[in-house]
Amino acid sequence: MATEDQDLEMPEGSVQNILEQESLKWVFVGGKGGVGKTTCSSILSILLAKVRPSVLIISTDPAHNLSDAFQQRFTKTPTLVNGFSNLYAMEVDPNVENEEMGSSEGMDSLFSELANAIPGIDEAMSFAEMLKLVQTMDYSVIVFDTAPTGHTLRLLQFPSTLEKGLEKMMSLKSKFGGLMSQMTRLFGMDDEFGEDAILGRLEGMKDVIERVNKQFKDPDLTTFICVCIPEFLSLYETERLVQELTKFEIDTHNIIINQVLFDEDDVESKLLIARMRMQQKYLDQFYMLYDDFHITKLPLLPEEVTGVEALKSFSRHFITPYEPSTSKGTVEELEQRVSSLRQQLNDAEAELERLRKGKQVA
Ligand SMILES: Nc1ncnc2c1ncn2[C@@H]1O[C@H](COP(=O)(O)OP(=O)(O)OP(=O)(O)O)[C@@H](O)[C@H]1O
Ligand SMILES: [Mg+2]
Repeated sequence: MATEDQDLEMPEGSVQNILEQESLKWVFVGGKGGVGKTTCSSILSILLAKVRPSVLIISTDPAHNLSDAFQQRFTKTPTLVNGFSNLYAMEVDPNVENEEMGSSEGMDSLFSELANAIPGIDEAMSFAEMLKLVQTMDYSVIVFDTAPTGHTLRLLQFPSTLEKGLEKMMSLKSKFGGLMSQMTRLFGMDDEFGEDAILGRLEGMKDVIERVNKQFKDPDLTTFICVCIPEFLSLYETERLVQELTKFEIDTHNIIINQVLFDEDDVESKLLIARMRMQQKYLDQFYMLYDDFHITKLPLLPEEVTGVEALKSFSRHFITPYEPSTSKGTVEELEQRVSSLRQQLNDAEAELERLRKGKQVA
């Protein structure tokens, strides 16, 4: 959602706007599986580390891959990324309930029984715990490498999940009256672990998550960057994602289209040329649908983008739009190209000759 003055000018094809928006505190990076979320969020965190005092990148994907991208092991506590003085990374598992919540075993099993009755509440609680922790740590900006689409949107729905959870608990409490407190007494749990304590814990979480939710809905503080590839399914998923984000009132005005095939001079493969045409069709649609978004196109590389050096080198395409090598080359390059084309022509003629001869024989 562009602001008024952005509407007047063409948005630039880079992530420069993200780097310049000094008020940003939370940057979500999301999209469907394998499109390049981890690569893009890692590079964004590297770029942000150049202009911000401190940056934290968090992976909320259970299949953690920040460790792969940076080629360094990370844990659920922020660790300084090798080669940086202000870039930290952590990997949290949204499916595992936080063990540091501290309670007796009986309480835990009762609590997880109840938690099981409210889908998504476990995840909501541990996400809230994580946010509570991160908020006390005073990072200038926090980048989220999120799990594939469905999962991310669930994270953003947590405040309402918790609200429903609380309602359910309240109704259980009134329905079964003293039964629960009898049970807690029966199992030898004191008031500290009774149903009031459970409600207290939920209320506490709700408080944190409500505060965070308010921040997530503030476009000065939060934005969501959609990563995709120029293919039908990805275009479709991106549109769904953008609509959901709009529904949750979460700002989004950047799209990164990864794995783009550019029309380089040396592209001769028929397959590549066909793929390029197909991509162009979807690229045109992206530009048409999202004319008020900053759309960054990234080239498909022949190799993976792993390790800090590769990430840093790839990061230049986030700032300056990628230029394919075109025939504006030097005399030597042109000569080389002419000779390579001549060679191809010779090969094709020889092949044709062979085919003709074969036909005559037959
Ligand atoms: N433009 C590119 N050119 C070549 N390889 C790329 C490019 N972008 C990403 N990759 C590689 O593709 C693989 C998948 O990228 P990445 O891990 O960033 O995707 P992801 O969206 O995070 O995947 P997942 O959904 O599994 O978390 C990685 O090995 C990465 O190095
Ligand atoms: Mg990933």
